[in-house]
Amino acid sequence: MLGCLKCLKYAFHWLLVSEVSMFQIDTSEVWVKKLGLYDEWAFVLLNRGPTNATVTLRLADIGLLYKPGYELRDLFKHTEIGHADSLEYRNYTVPATGAIMAYAYPSE
Ligand SMILES: *[C@@H]1O[C@H](CO)[C@@H](O)[C@H](O)[C@H]1NC(C)=O
Ligand SMILES: *[C@@H]1O[C@H](CO)[C@@H](O)[C@H](O)[C@H]1NC(C)=O
Repeated sequence: MLGCLKCLKYAFHWLLVSEVSMFQIDTSEVWVKKLGLYDEWAFVLLNRGPTNATVTLRLADIGLLYKPGYELRDLFKHTEIGHADSLEYRNYTVPATGAIMAYAYPSE
């Protein structure tokens, strides 16, 4: 599941071996990495707190600036999160002491 130790270990390993930017949004952290030369990204929403957290995030605020927006994919659940415009605020529910790891690629 999302909050599983294995997933967190995977996320931390990924963070350690990569060049990432970190943003603080309320009590949660967002870690962002650009993948390769193209406008593709991975980001992790990290919730260290004991309860589920709603993170309100705008992609433009973490460096994802492509105006038509991005398609988001949940890398832990292997599901589509869906489309998000770069300037749109979206809520993500991050499980207690858990994380969401997402892959973002530009919309057509
Ligand atoms: C926390 O979120 C999970 C799904 O991510 C849900 O199953 C659970 O009921 C939530 N817990 C609380 C206390 O809202
Ligand atoms: C996000 O959640 C906040 C409450 O935490 C709510 O006020 C806001 O309307 C929500 N925004 C969206 C886009 O769902």
